[in-house]
Amino acid sequence: MNPISRICFSYPLIFSVLTAVIMITAWPLPSLGGFELGQAKEPVSLPKKTLAQSSGSVASSGDCQPTPPDSLGPFYKPNAPVRSSVGQGYILHGVVRSSKDCSIVAGARIEMWLTGPNGRYDDDHRATVFSDGSGRYRFESNFPPDYAGRPSHIHIRISAAGYRTLITQHYPAKGVREATFDLVVIPTR
Ligand SMILES: [Fe+2]
Repeated sequence: MNPISRICFSYPLIFSVLTAVIMITAWPLPSLGGFELGQAKEPVSLPKKTLAQSSGSVASSGDCQPTPPDSLGPFYKPNAPVRSSVGQGYILHGVVRSSKDCSIVAGARIEMWLTGPNGRYDDDHRATVFSDGSGRYRFESNFPPDYAGRPSHIHIRISAAGYRTLITQHYPAKGVREATFDLVVIPTR
């Protein structure tokens, strides 16, 4: 075959191959659900509420979100006396609940410590209370003064069988003499 004939013979073949390549690379692939070549697919993240509902868990109003932990501080001492009052002027009460299903937690050990009226920590302002059969607790004290540049606060440590120990703090609002502070603890399994 002379050179001219070779070119005339191979040109249609080259053209056909190029056309096929262009069609294959540009055509959407139905088998990939419309996923086109060179197009990244972003992960889908469902809102938390949707996840809770789909898993069958309690889609409550959020009342049973675990109580946020807070620092223990340097003045914790174990084995505080069992007593519901270490002073007067401020009443703290609430219910201990499980984060799993909002059920009450009876018999939880709740340790409290705060500064006395003089703004210092001492053994007279430590106490242990227990949640009753309805999960309720009540504790009375002085209104804790600001301490070392920190706002008024009451330290709380909650322990109960089957639950992770929670260390947190309550921050009384200025001018308030009573507050509700529910304590929501997380099951160990
Ligand atoms: Fe403190």
